[in-house]
Amino acid sequence: MVFISDEKKNQIIENSDIVAIIGDYVDLKKSGNSYKGLCPFHNEKTPSFTVDDKKQLFHCFGCGEGGDVVSFIMHKEGLSYIDSMKFLASKAGIKLDDSKSSKENKILNRFYDINKDIMMYFYKNLLTDKAGQIYLKNRGFRSNIVNTFMLGFAKNSWDDLLNYVKKKDYLLDDIESLGLIKKSQNGKYYDKYRNRLIFPIINHYGKVIGFGGRSIDSTMPKYLNSPESQVFKKRYNLYGLNIFKKQSSKDIILVEGYMDVIGLNNQGIDQAVASLGTSLTNDQAKLLKRYAKNVYICYDEDNAGIKATDRAIEILLDEGIKPNIISLEKGLDPDDFVKKYGRDAFIKKMDEASDVYNYKYNKILDLYAKSKDNEKFEKLNLFIEFLASIKSDLTREIFINNVSKLFNIDKATLKESVLKYNDNYKKTYINNKENFSNDNNFKNFHQKQKIIVERKIMKFQLMSLKL
Ligand code: UTP
Ligand code: MN
Repeated sequence: MVFISDEKKNQIIENSDIVAIIGDYVDLKKSGNSYKGLCPFHNEKTPSFTVDDKKQLFHCFGCGEGGDVVSFIMHKEGLSYIDSMKFLASKAGIKLDDSKSSKENKILNRFYDINKDIMMYFYKNLLTDKAGQIYLKNRGFRSNIVNTFMLGFAKNSWDDLLNYVKKKDYLLDDIESLGLIKKSQNGKYYDKYRNRLIFPIINHYGKVIGFGGRSIDSTMPKYLNSPESQVFKKRYNLYGLNIFKKQSSKDIILVEGYMDVIGLNNQGIDQAVASLGTSLTNDQAKLLKRYAKNVYICYDEDNAGIKATDRAIEILLDEGIKPNIISLEKGLDPDDFVKKYGRDAFIKKMDEASDVYNYKYNKILDLYAKSKDNEKFEKLNLFIEFLASIKSDLTREIFINNVSKLFNIDKATLKESVLKYNDNYKKTYINNKENFSNDNNFKNFHQKQKIIVERKIMKFQLMSLKL
Protein backbone atom coordinates (compact mmCIF):
# COMPACT_ATOMS: atom_id res chain seq x y z
CA MET A 1 0.00 0.00 0.00
CA VAL A 2 1.43 3.34 -1.01
CA PHE A 3 1.14 6.24 1.39
CA ILE A 4 0.60 9.57 -0.34
CA SER A 5 1.42 12.63 1.73
CA ASP A 6 -0.73 15.78 1.47
CA GLU A 7 2.20 17.53 -0.11
CA LYS A 8 2.42 14.82 -2.77
CA LYS A 9 -1.34 15.00 -3.34
CA ASN A 10 -1.10 18.72 -4.01
CA GLN A 11 1.81 18.14 -6.34
CA ILE A 12 -0.20 15.55 -8.29
CA ILE A 13 -3.27 17.78 -8.59
CA GLU A 14 -1.15 20.78 -9.61
CA ASN A 15 0.43 18.72 -12.35
CA SER A 16 -2.85 17.26 -13.64
CA ASP A 17 -4.39 19.90 -15.84
CA ILE A 18 -8.10 19.13 -15.94
CA VAL A 19 -8.52 20.22 -19.58
CA ALA A 20 -5.70 17.93 -20.71
CA ILE A 21 -6.83 14.97 -18.60
CA ILE A 22 -10.51 15.19 -19.58
CA GLY A 23 -9.41 15.88 -23.17
CA ASP A 24 -8.30 12.24 -23.33
CA TYR A 25 -11.94 11.20 -22.91
CA VAL A 26 -13.99 14.04 -24.39
CA ASP A 27 -13.51 16.21 -27.48
CA LEU A 28 -13.44 19.60 -25.78
CA LYS A 29 -13.96 22.86 -27.63
CA LYS A 30 -13.16 26.30 -26.24
CA SER A 31 -16.32 28.27 -25.55
CA GLY A 32 -15.87 31.64 -23.84
CA ASN A 33 -13.93 31.15 -20.64
CA SER A 34 -14.46 27.42 -20.45
CA TYR A 35 -14.45 24.26 -22.57
CA LYS A 36 -17.47 22.34 -23.80
CA GLY A 37 -18.06 18.79 -24.97
CA LEU A 38 -20.45 15.83 -24.98
CA CYS A 39 -20.88 14.48 -21.48
CA PRO A 40 -19.06 11.16 -20.93
CA PHE A 41 -21.45 10.22 -18.14
CA HIS A 42 -24.77 10.30 -19.98
CA ASN A 43 -26.02 10.10 -23.55
CA GLU A 44 -26.51 13.44 -25.23
CA LYS A 45 -26.46 14.98 -28.69
CA THR A 46 -25.73 18.62 -27.79
CA PRO A 47 -22.89 19.43 -25.40
CA SER A 48 -23.84 20.34 -21.85
CA PHE A 49 -20.59 19.22 -20.28
CA THR A 50 -18.25 22.07 -19.34
CA VAL A 51 -14.73 22.22 -18.01
CA ASP A 52 -13.56 25.33 -16.25
CA ASP A 53 -9.89 25.88 -16.93
CA LYS A 54 -9.41 28.50 -14.21
CA LYS A 55 -11.25 26.75 -11.41
CA GLN A 56 -10.04 23.31 -12.58
CA LEU A 57 -13.56 21.94 -12.22
CA PHE A 58 -16.02 20.17 -14.52
CA HIS A 59 -19.80 20.20 -14.52
CA CYS A 60 -22.55 18.71 -16.66
CA PHE A 61 -25.77 20.72 -16.89
CA GLY A 62 -27.50 17.66 -18.30
CA CYS A 63 -26.91 15.03 -15.63
CA GLY A 64 -25.53 17.12 -12.79
CA GLU A 65 -22.21 15.28 -12.58
CA GLY A 66 -19.35 17.49 -11.47
CA GLY A 67 -16.15 17.84 -9.49
CA ASP A 68 -12.40 18.17 -9.83
CA VAL A 69 -9.89 16.17 -11.82
CA VAL A 70 -9.65 13.46 -9.15
CA SER A 71 -13.39 12.88 -8.96
CA PHE A 72 -13.52 12.77 -12.76
CA ILE A 73 -10.94 9.95 -12.82
CA MET A 74 -12.62 8.14 -9.91
CA HIS A 75 -15.91 8.15 -11.77
CA LYS A 76 -14.68 7.51 -15.32
CA GLU A 77 -12.02 4.92 -14.47
CA GLY A 78 -13.96 3.31 -11.64
CA LEU A 79 -11.03 3.76 -9.26
CA SER A 80 -10.76 4.53 -5.55
CA TYR A 81 -9.42 7.90 -4.43
CA ILE A 82 -5.91 6.55 -3.82
CA ASP A 83 -5.84 4.62 -7.09
CA SER A 84 -7.02 7.72 -8.95
CA MET A 85 -4.13 9.62 -7.37
CA LYS A 86 -1.73 6.91 -8.52
CA PHE A 87 -3.27 7.02 -11.99
CA LEU A 88 -2.77 10.78 -12.22
CA ALA A 89 0.72 10.58 -10.71
CA SER A 90 1.76 8.10 -13.37
CA LYS A 91 0.35 10.36 -16.12
CA ALA A 92 2.21 13.34 -14.69
CA GLY A 93 5.43 11.33 -14.33
CA ILE A 94 5.45 11.79 -10.54
CA LYS A 95 7.13 8.97 -8.66
CA LEU A 96 5.35 7.52 -5.67
CA ASP A 97 7.31 4.35 -5.08
CA ASP A 98 10.79 3.38 -3.96
CA SER A 99 13.83 3.54 -6.22
CA LYS A 100 13.61 -0.09 -7.37
CA SER A 101 10.21 0.34 -8.89
CA SER A 102 11.12 3.69 -10.36
CA LYS A 103 13.93 1.92 -12.23
CA GLU A 104 11.37 -0.50 -13.58
CA ASN A 105 9.15 2.45 -14.45
CA LYS A 106 12.00 3.93 -16.45
CA ILE A 107 12.26 0.82 -18.60
CA LEU A 108 8.49 0.71 -18.99
CA ASN A 109 8.36 4.32 -20.07
CA ARG A 110 11.19 3.75 -22.53
CA PHE A 111 9.25 0.86 -24.08
CA TYR A 112 6.02 2.87 -24.20
CA ASP A 113 7.82 5.72 -25.95
CA ILE A 114 9.37 3.40 -28.53
CA ASN A 115 6.02 1.73 -29.20
CA LYS A 116 4.33 5.08 -29.63
CA ASP A 117 6.97 6.28 -32.04
CA ILE A 118 6.75 3.07 -34.07
CA MET A 119 2.95 3.30 -34.09
CA MET A 120 3.36 6.71 -35.74
CA TYR A 121 5.87 5.26 -38.18
CA PHE A 122 3.45 2.51 -39.27
CA TYR A 123 0.63 5.06 -39.41
CA LYS A 124 2.57 7.28 -41.82
CA ASN A 125 3.33 4.19 -43.93
CA LEU A 126 -0.36 3.52 -44.28
CA LEU A 127 -1.00 7.06 -45.42
CA THR A 128 1.70 6.84 -48.08
CA ASP A 129 1.62 3.21 -49.23
CA LYS A 130 -1.32 2.27 -51.45
CA ALA A 131 -1.32 -1.47 -50.65
CA GLY A 132 -2.70 -1.08 -47.13
CA GLN A 133 -5.25 1.52 -48.20
CA ILE A 134 -6.56 -0.71 -50.97
CA TYR A 135 -6.93 -3.60 -48.55
CA LEU A 136 -8.99 -1.47 -46.15
CA LYS A 137 -11.11 -0.11 -48.96
CA ASN A 138 -11.83 -3.58 -50.32
CA ARG A 139 -13.06 -4.60 -46.90
CA GLY A 140 -15.44 -1.66 -46.86
CA PHE A 141 -13.77 0.49 -44.22
CA ARG A 142 -14.32 4.22 -44.13
CA SER A 143 -11.13 6.26 -44.10
CA ASN A 144 -11.67 7.78 -40.65
CA ILE A 145 -11.32 4.30 -39.12
CA VAL A 146 -7.56 4.72 -39.66
CA ASN A 147 -7.44 7.66 -37.26
CA THR A 148 -9.83 6.20 -34.71
CA PHE A 149 -7.66 3.11 -34.27
CA MET A 150 -4.35 4.65 -35.40
CA LEU A 151 -4.04 1.82 -37.91
CA GLY A 152 -0.76 1.42 -39.71
CA PHE A 153 1.05 -0.54 -42.36
CA ALA A 154 4.27 -2.56 -42.32
CA LYS A 155 5.78 -2.42 -45.79
CA ASN A 156 6.60 -5.46 -47.89
CA SER A 157 10.25 -5.28 -46.88
CA TRP A 158 12.73 -7.12 -44.63
CA ASP A 159 14.42 -4.01 -43.29
CA ASP A 160 12.14 -0.98 -43.62
CA LEU A 161 11.46 -0.70 -39.90
CA LEU A 162 14.96 -1.91 -39.04
CA ASN A 163 16.52 1.00 -40.96
CA TYR A 164 14.16 3.41 -39.23
CA VAL A 165 15.00 2.24 -35.70
CA LYS A 166 18.72 2.27 -36.51
CA LYS A 167 18.43 5.89 -37.59
CA LYS A 168 16.66 6.71 -34.34
CA ASP A 169 19.50 5.16 -32.29
CA TYR A 170 17.15 2.86 -30.43
CA LEU A 171 18.73 -0.18 -28.77
CA LEU A 172 18.08 -3.08 -31.13
CA ASP A 173 17.74 -5.29 -28.06
CA ASP A 174 14.73 -3.21 -26.97
CA ILE A 175 13.12 -3.45 -30.39
CA GLU A 176 13.64 -7.21 -30.35
CA SER A 177 12.10 -7.53 -26.86
CA LEU A 178 9.09 -5.66 -28.17
CA GLY A 179 8.79 -8.27 -30.92
CA LEU A 180 9.22 -5.89 -33.83
CA ILE A 181 12.45 -7.33 -35.22
CA LYS A 182 13.96 -10.81 -35.09
CA LYS A 183 17.45 -12.28 -35.49
CA SER A 184 18.05 -14.69 -38.35
CA GLN A 185 20.36 -17.71 -38.05
CA ASN A 186 23.30 -15.75 -39.36
CA GLY A 187 22.77 -13.19 -36.62
CA LYS A 188 21.22 -10.44 -38.73
CA TYR A 189 18.11 -8.62 -37.70
CA TYR A 190 15.04 -8.45 -39.95
CA ASP A 191 11.53 -6.95 -39.69
CA LYS A 192 8.95 -9.28 -38.14
CA TYR A 193 5.89 -7.54 -39.58
CA ARG A 194 5.99 -7.43 -43.38
CA ASN A 195 3.16 -6.54 -45.75
CA ARG A 196 0.71 -6.37 -42.89
CA LEU A 197 -2.00 -4.03 -41.73
CA ILE A 198 -1.01 -2.93 -38.23
CA PHE A 199 -3.33 -2.63 -35.23
CA PRO A 200 -1.62 -0.82 -32.36
CA ILE A 201 -2.87 -2.18 -29.07
CA ILE A 202 -3.48 0.78 -26.78
CA ASN A 203 -4.31 0.04 -23.18
CA HIS A 204 -6.95 1.77 -21.06
CA TYR A 205 -4.35 4.26 -19.84
CA GLY A 206 -3.63 5.32 -23.41
CA LYS A 207 -0.22 3.61 -23.65
CA VAL A 208 0.81 1.70 -26.77
CA ILE A 209 1.58 -1.75 -25.41
CA GLY A 210 1.84 -3.88 -28.54
CA PHE A 211 0.88 -4.56 -32.14
CA GLY A 212 -1.24 -6.96 -34.10
CA GLY A 213 -0.54 -7.37 -37.79
CA ARG A 214 -2.87 -8.90 -40.38
CA SER A 215 -1.35 -10.16 -43.57
CA ILE A 216 -2.90 -8.46 -46.59
CA ASP A 217 -2.01 -11.31 -48.93
CA SER A 218 -2.51 -14.96 -48.06
CA THR A 219 0.75 -15.28 -46.08
CA MET A 220 0.35 -17.34 -42.93
CA PRO A 221 -0.13 -16.83 -40.10
CA LYS A 222 -3.09 -14.55 -40.72
CA TYR A 223 -2.22 -12.49 -37.64
CA LEU A 224 1.05 -11.77 -35.88
CA ASN A 225 0.92 -10.41 -32.35
CA SER A 226 3.45 -8.88 -29.97
CA PRO A 227 5.03 -11.40 -27.63
CA GLU A 228 4.48 -11.07 -23.89
CA SER A 229 6.86 -8.48 -22.47
CA GLN A 230 7.14 -6.03 -19.58
CA VAL A 231 4.70 -3.77 -21.41
CA PHE A 232 2.52 -6.32 -23.17
CA LYS A 233 0.60 -8.58 -20.84
CA LYS A 234 -2.24 -10.04 -22.83
CA ARG A 235 -4.27 -11.34 -19.93
CA TYR A 236 -4.73 -7.86 -18.42
CA ASN A 237 -5.84 -6.05 -21.55
CA LEU A 238 -8.69 -5.79 -24.03
CA TYR A 239 -8.33 -4.45 -27.54
CA GLY A 240 -10.53 -1.39 -28.07
CA LEU A 241 -11.04 -0.49 -24.39
CA ASN A 242 -9.36 2.87 -25.02
CA ILE A 243 -12.10 3.65 -27.56
CA PHE A 244 -14.91 2.26 -25.41
CA LYS A 245 -13.85 4.62 -22.63
CA LYS A 246 -14.50 7.63 -24.82
CA GLN A 247 -18.22 6.97 -25.24
CA SER A 248 -20.92 7.05 -22.62
CA SER A 249 -22.86 3.79 -23.01
CA LYS A 250 -22.34 1.23 -20.27
CA ASP A 251 -23.09 -1.71 -22.57
CA ILE A 252 -19.93 -3.42 -23.74
CA ILE A 253 -19.73 -6.00 -26.53
CA LEU A 254 -17.09 -8.68 -26.20
CA VAL A 255 -15.90 -9.96 -29.59
CA GLU A 256 -13.10 -12.24 -30.77
CA GLY A 257 -10.94 -10.20 -33.08
CA TYR A 258 -9.45 -6.87 -34.04
CA MET A 259 -11.49 -6.78 -37.23
CA ASP A 260 -14.73 -7.28 -35.31
CA VAL A 261 -14.01 -4.27 -33.10
CA ILE A 262 -13.12 -2.17 -36.14
CA GLY A 263 -15.95 -3.50 -38.32
CA LEU A 264 -18.56 -2.61 -35.71
CA ASN A 265 -17.02 0.82 -35.19
CA ASN A 266 -17.10 1.34 -38.96
CA GLN A 267 -20.89 1.07 -38.72
CA GLY A 268 -21.13 3.40 -35.74
CA ILE A 269 -21.05 0.83 -32.95
CA ASP A 270 -18.17 1.96 -30.75
CA GLN A 271 -18.73 -0.36 -27.79
CA ALA A 272 -16.82 -3.50 -28.80
CA VAL A 273 -13.65 -4.87 -27.26
CA ALA A 274 -11.71 -8.04 -28.10
CA SER A 275 -9.88 -10.40 -25.82
CA LEU A 276 -6.73 -10.42 -28.01
CA GLY A 277 -7.06 -13.86 -29.52
CA THR A 278 -7.02 -15.85 -26.30
CA SER A 279 -9.87 -17.16 -24.25
CA LEU A 280 -11.15 -14.58 -21.80
CA THR A 281 -9.20 -14.33 -18.54
CA ASN A 282 -10.47 -13.44 -15.07
CA ASP A 283 -8.41 -10.26 -15.18
CA GLN A 284 -10.07 -9.20 -18.42
CA ALA A 285 -13.45 -9.93 -16.86
CA LYS A 286 -12.48 -7.62 -13.97
CA LEU A 287 -11.72 -4.88 -16.50
CA LEU A 288 -15.13 -5.37 -18.14
CA LYS A 289 -16.74 -5.04 -14.75
CA ARG A 290 -14.82 -1.89 -14.01
CA TYR A 291 -15.82 -0.07 -17.19
CA ALA A 292 -19.22 -1.49 -18.12
CA LYS A 293 -22.55 -2.36 -16.60
CA ASN A 294 -23.84 -4.88 -19.12
CA VAL A 295 -21.63 -7.32 -20.99
CA TYR A 296 -22.73 -8.78 -24.32
CA ILE A 297 -20.80 -11.73 -25.68
CA CYS A 298 -20.75 -11.82 -29.47
CA TYR A 299 -18.29 -14.43 -30.64
CA ASP A 300 -18.07 -16.03 -34.07
CA GLU A 301 -20.96 -18.32 -34.87
CA ASP A 302 -18.75 -21.39 -35.43
CA ASN A 303 -17.73 -24.35 -33.27
CA ALA A 304 -14.69 -22.63 -31.77
CA GLY A 305 -16.78 -19.52 -31.08
CA ILE A 306 -19.51 -21.48 -29.35
CA LYS A 307 -16.97 -23.22 -27.11
CA ALA A 308 -15.31 -19.89 -26.35
CA THR A 309 -18.72 -18.44 -25.45
CA ASP A 310 -19.28 -21.20 -22.90
CA ARG A 311 -15.89 -20.55 -21.33
CA ALA A 312 -16.43 -16.77 -21.29
CA ILE A 313 -19.83 -17.22 -19.60
CA GLU A 314 -18.24 -19.19 -16.76
CA ILE A 315 -15.41 -16.66 -16.30
CA LEU A 316 -17.86 -13.75 -16.26
CA LEU A 317 -20.22 -15.46 -13.82
CA ASP A 318 -17.18 -16.13 -11.68
CA GLU A 319 -16.55 -12.38 -11.52
CA GLY A 320 -20.19 -11.63 -10.72
CA ILE A 321 -21.18 -10.49 -14.21
CA LYS A 322 -24.31 -11.93 -15.82
CA PRO A 323 -23.61 -11.62 -19.52
CA ASN A 324 -26.07 -11.48 -22.42
CA ILE A 325 -25.31 -13.60 -25.43
CA ILE A 326 -25.82 -12.33 -28.96
CA SER A 327 -26.36 -15.04 -31.57
CA LEU A 328 -25.63 -14.14 -35.16
CA GLU A 329 -26.07 -16.17 -38.32
CA LYS A 330 -24.14 -19.42 -38.67
CA GLY A 331 -20.65 -18.88 -40.08
CA LEU A 332 -20.65 -15.11 -39.62
CA ASP A 333 -18.54 -13.07 -37.23
CA PRO A 334 -19.69 -9.62 -36.01
CA ASP A 335 -17.69 -7.86 -38.74
CA ASP A 336 -19.26 -10.02 -41.47
CA PHE A 337 -22.72 -9.58 -40.00
CA VAL A 338 -22.66 -5.83 -39.65
CA LYS A 339 -21.22 -5.45 -43.13
CA LYS A 340 -23.94 -7.64 -44.62
CA TYR A 341 -26.95 -6.38 -42.67
CA GLY A 342 -25.95 -3.00 -41.24
CA ARG A 343 -26.06 -1.26 -37.89
CA ASP A 344 -29.77 -1.53 -37.10
CA ALA A 345 -29.80 -5.28 -37.66
CA PHE A 346 -26.95 -5.63 -35.17
CA ILE A 347 -28.67 -3.43 -32.59
CA LYS A 348 -31.75 -5.61 -33.03
CA LYS A 349 -29.61 -8.69 -32.31
CA MET A 350 -28.38 -6.94 -29.16
CA ASP A 351 -31.96 -6.31 -28.06
CA GLU A 352 -32.76 -9.96 -28.66
CA ALA A 353 -29.69 -11.25 -26.78
CA SER A 354 -30.34 -14.14 -24.38
CA ASP A 355 -29.51 -14.14 -20.72
CA VAL A 356 -27.27 -16.97 -19.55
CA TYR A 357 -30.08 -19.29 -18.50
CA ASN A 358 -32.10 -19.00 -21.68
CA TYR A 359 -28.92 -19.38 -23.70
CA LYS A 360 -28.00 -22.62 -21.93
CA TYR A 361 -31.55 -23.89 -21.99
CA ASN A 362 -31.96 -23.25 -25.69
CA LYS A 363 -28.71 -25.04 -26.41
CA ILE A 364 -29.90 -28.17 -24.61
CA LEU A 365 -33.28 -27.84 -26.24
CA ASP A 366 -31.54 -27.77 -29.58
CA LEU A 367 -29.62 -30.96 -28.77
CA TYR A 368 -32.87 -32.53 -27.65
CA ALA A 369 -34.71 -31.56 -30.82
CA LYS A 370 -31.92 -32.89 -32.99
CA SER A 371 -31.57 -36.24 -31.21
CA LYS A 372 -33.25 -39.40 -32.47
CA ASP A 373 -36.46 -40.49 -30.79
CA ASN A 374 -34.82 -43.31 -28.87
CA GLU A 375 -32.15 -40.93 -27.52
CA LYS A 376 -34.48 -38.15 -26.48
CA PHE A 377 -35.13 -39.48 -23.04
CA GLU A 378 -31.44 -39.66 -22.31
CA LYS A 379 -31.19 -35.90 -22.81
CA LEU A 380 -33.19 -35.45 -19.65
CA ASN A 381 -29.94 -35.66 -17.71
CA LEU A 382 -28.67 -32.53 -19.38
CA PHE A 383 -31.81 -30.72 -18.31
CA ILE A 384 -31.46 -31.94 -14.72
CA GLU A 385 -27.83 -30.84 -14.65
CA PHE A 386 -28.89 -27.44 -16.01
CA LEU A 387 -31.72 -27.06 -13.49
CA ALA A 388 -29.37 -28.00 -10.68
CA SER A 389 -26.96 -25.23 -11.72
CA ILE A 390 -29.57 -22.49 -11.26
CA LYS A 391 -29.06 -20.71 -7.96
CA SER A 392 -32.17 -18.54 -7.91
CA ASP A 393 -35.27 -20.42 -6.73
CA LEU A 394 -37.57 -18.35 -8.89
CA THR A 395 -35.60 -18.86 -12.09
CA ARG A 396 -35.26 -22.57 -11.37
CA GLU A 397 -39.02 -22.82 -10.89
CA ILE A 398 -39.64 -21.27 -14.31
CA PHE A 399 -37.36 -23.73 -16.06
CA ILE A 400 -38.69 -26.68 -14.05
CA ASN A 401 -42.07 -25.74 -15.50
CA ASN A 402 -40.69 -25.86 -19.02
CA VAL A 403 -38.93 -29.18 -18.59
CA SER A 404 -41.96 -30.64 -16.89
CA LYS A 405 -44.08 -29.85 -19.92
CA LEU A 406 -41.47 -31.00 -22.38
CA PHE A 407 -41.07 -34.49 -20.87
CA ASN A 408 -44.49 -34.73 -19.38
CA ILE A 409 -43.06 -35.37 -15.92
CA ASP A 410 -44.62 -33.81 -12.87
CA LYS A 411 -42.77 -30.96 -11.20
CA ALA A 412 -42.37 -32.62 -7.82
CA THR A 413 -40.41 -35.50 -9.34
CA LEU A 414 -38.21 -33.13 -11.25
CA LYS A 415 -37.54 -31.09 -8.14
CA GLU A 416 -36.60 -34.19 -6.25
CA SER A 417 -34.15 -35.21 -8.94
CA VAL A 418 -32.58 -31.77 -8.91
CA LEU A 419 -32.24 -31.84 -5.13
CA LYS A 420 -30.75 -35.29 -5.27
CA TYR A 421 -28.34 -34.17 -7.97
CA ASN A 422 -27.14 -31.24 -5.87
CA ASP A 423 -27.00 -33.36 -2.75
CA ASN A 424 -24.82 -35.95 -4.39
CA TYR A 425 -22.71 -33.27 -5.94
CA LYS A 426 -22.07 -31.76 -2.54
CA LYS A 427 -21.39 -35.09 -0.91
CA THR A 428 -19.05 -36.37 -3.55
CA TYR A 429 -17.50 -33.19 -4.82
CA ILE A 430 -17.44 -30.46 -2.20
CA ASN A 431 -16.70 -32.76 0.74
CA ASN A 432 -14.26 -34.82 -1.19
CA LYS A 433 -12.46 -32.43 -3.48
CA GLU A 434 -9.26 -34.40 -3.85
CA ASN A 435 -11.12 -37.28 -5.46
CA PHE A 436 -12.00 -34.97 -8.27
CA SER A 437 -8.48 -33.94 -8.97
CA ASN A 438 -8.57 -35.97 -12.13
CA ASP A 439 -11.04 -35.81 -14.93
CA ASN A 440 -12.01 -39.46 -14.74
CA ASN A 441 -13.49 -39.15 -11.30
CA PHE A 442 -15.41 -36.14 -12.45
CA LYS A 443 -16.81 -38.05 -15.41
CA ASN A 444 -17.69 -40.91 -13.08
CA PHE A 445 -19.69 -38.53 -10.97
CA HIS A 446 -21.72 -37.44 -13.95
CA GLN A 447 -22.18 -41.04 -15.05
CA LYS A 448 -23.46 -42.01 -11.62
CA GLN A 449 -25.75 -39.02 -11.54
CA LYS A 450 -27.14 -40.01 -14.89
CA ILE A 451 -28.03 -43.46 -13.63
CA ILE A 452 -29.66 -42.08 -10.49
CA VAL A 453 -31.79 -39.67 -12.46
CA GLU A 454 -32.80 -42.29 -14.97
CA ARG A 455 -33.79 -44.72 -12.23
CA LYS A 456 -35.91 -42.10 -10.53
CA ILE A 457 -37.73 -41.19 -13.68
CA MET A 458 -38.23 -44.83 -14.67
CA LYS A 459 -39.75 -45.46 -11.32
CA PHE A 460 -42.03 -42.52 -11.80
CA GLN A 461 -43.07 -43.73 -15.21
CA LEU A 462 -43.73 -47.23 -13.97
CA MET A 463 -45.87 -45.74 -11.25
CA SER A 464 -47.86 -43.71 -13.70
CA LEU A 465 -48.35 -46.81 -15.86
CA LYS A 466 -49.81 -48.60 -12.91
CA LEU A 467 -52.24 -45.79 -12.24
P1 UTP B 1 -10.24 -14.77 -36.80
O1 UTP B 1 -9.56 -15.82 -37.59
O2 UTP B 1 -11.68 -14.96 -36.44
O3 UTP B 1 -10.00 -13.42 -37.58
O4 UTP B 1 -9.40 -14.54 -35.48
P2 UTP B 1 -10.95 -12.19 -37.83
O5 UTP B 1 -10.94 -11.30 -36.63
O6 UTP B 1 -12.29 -12.63 -38.35
O7 UTP B 1 -10.15 -11.45 -38.98
P3 UTP B 1 -10.49 -11.42 -40.52
O8 UTP B 1 -11.88 -10.90 -40.63
O9 UTP B 1 -10.34 -12.80 -41.05
O10 UTP B 1 -9.47 -10.48 -41.07
C1 UTP B 1 -9.87 -13.83 -34.38
C2 UTP B 1 -8.71 -13.29 -33.59
O11 UTP B 1 -7.84 -14.36 -33.22
C3 UTP B 1 -6.50 -13.91 -33.23
C4 UTP B 1 -6.53 -12.43 -33.60
O12 UTP B 1 -6.58 -11.68 -32.41
C5 UTP B 1 -7.84 -12.33 -34.36
O13 UTP B 1 -8.34 -11.01 -34.35
N1 UTP B 1 -5.68 -14.65 -34.22
C6 UTP B 1 -6.25 -15.26 -35.30
C7 UTP B 1 -4.32 -14.70 -34.06
O14 UTP B 1 -3.78 -14.16 -33.08
N2 UTP B 1 -3.54 -15.34 -34.99
C8 UTP B 1 -4.09 -15.93 -36.09
O15 UTP B 1 -3.34 -16.47 -36.93
C9 UTP B 1 -5.47 -15.89 -36.24
MN1 MN C 1 -13.59 -11.69 -39.71
